Amino acid sequence: MSSSILLVRTALLLGIIFSSTIPALGSSDSPAFFVFGDSTVDPGNNNYIGTTPEFRADFEPYGRNGFFDKPTGRFSDGRVIVDFIAEYAGLPIIPAYKQPGADFSHGANFASGGAGVLPETNRGMVIDLPTQLKDFEEVEKWLIEKVGTDKAKEVLREAVYFISIGSNDYLGGYRGNPEMRQRYRPEAFIGTVVGNLTSTIQDLYEKGARKFGFLSIGPLGCLPALRAQNAATSGNNNGACLEEASSLAQAHNNALKSLLFSLSAIFRDIKYCNSDFYDWIEDKLNNPAKHGFKDGERACCGAGPFGGLYTCGGQREAKEYSLCKDADMEGYIWFDSFHPTERIHEEYARMFWDGPSSLVGPYTLRQLFTGKRIIADYVDDPKEEDPFASLS
Ligand SMILES: *[C@@H]1O[C@H](CO)[C@@H](O)[C@H](O)[C@H]1NC(C)=O
Repeated sequence: MSSSILLVRTALLLGIIFSSTIPALGSSDSPAFFVFGDSTVDPGNNNYIGTTPEFRADFEPYGRNGFFDKPTGRFSDGRVIVDFIAEYAGLPIIPAYKQPGADFSHGANFASGGAGVLPETNRGMVIDLPTQLKDFEEVEKWLIEKVGTDKAKEVLREAVYFISIGSNDYLGGYRGNPEMRQRYRPEAFIGTVVGNLTSTIQDLYEKGARKFGFLSIGPLGCLPALRAQNAATSGNNNGACLEEASSLAQAHNNALKSLLFSLSAIFRDIKYCNSDFYDWIEDKLNNPAKHGFKDGERACCGAGPFGGLYTCGGQREAKEYSLCKDADMEGYIWFDSFHPTERIHEEYARMFWDGPSSLVGPYTLRQLFTGKRIIADYVDDPKEEDPFASLS
């Protein structure tokens, strides 16, 4: 093909993309945003279910940085990653599905702190992933009622589906559960988690989902809670990460990576953005000063060595906790024993939005949200409808 034809095609292509972008409901022309997962992305769903303070964050000092006027149930000092992603996409904050009177015009967030892929993980205390999918079906029904089947299909096909889950399966679900450890060897357990995650992705695909974002699991053994456990069992207070927990996370991430690669070969019209949260944050934990932080080991809020006891807020089993003055000023990475500060959420969201391709791919979130397609999409995929067919 001559380069001038290519140029014309490119120009046409851009025109077609912009004119065919299907607006979500409401005023913003960004696609809708649906979120599934655990405390990394829960905007407060657990405030509305019967659970224990272990699985809640709707009390001080959560949310203390003042972005929201009170604790919202987010497990951080402020916003979480999906709040930033919504902002970059030009969307309002996507509400918790459980929030009474919530407006789902731009999407819904089904995530629940403590949730796992497997229903066995923290059973009875959280909204597990299969239940989050059922909740999504309710929103789907609402959408069909509101705009009709055809339009609803378009909205669901254009929407971005973000999934951040798995840590709890490996922490409480496996490491903290002797029965599971007896039933499964680590690699078999990982296979079970990833197998169930595959089913969820396929279910969403069958409902019309085509664009997915995935947040990989971080180095679990470096959470202040696990550093503290490691110190307690090894008698060595040097702050080493608990390797056994981090290995599970790494193995899971590798399995997810190949799963997504296979799925996209089978379902050729899937577009996804996976990201390497593990390496990204590990570098910050190991070299905080290089990245403008001061402390990659201790939690701003908690008790005991590394702030690793999960007592932040004094509403859980133990009442005592200490709290740093200002997580940002003092350069903390971890807000409590398990969860990072808002600043980490924001920096990661920014990275997730635009790349670099060493950490994010094959698409960036920006590409998923703006629908910008690369020429290779058409060249590589013979099944893709030829957008020029009607022009010739
Ligand atoms: C899903 O998880 C259950 C345990 O909850 C397990 O028995 C089943 O084999 C898993 N499914 C897949 C496809 O791995």
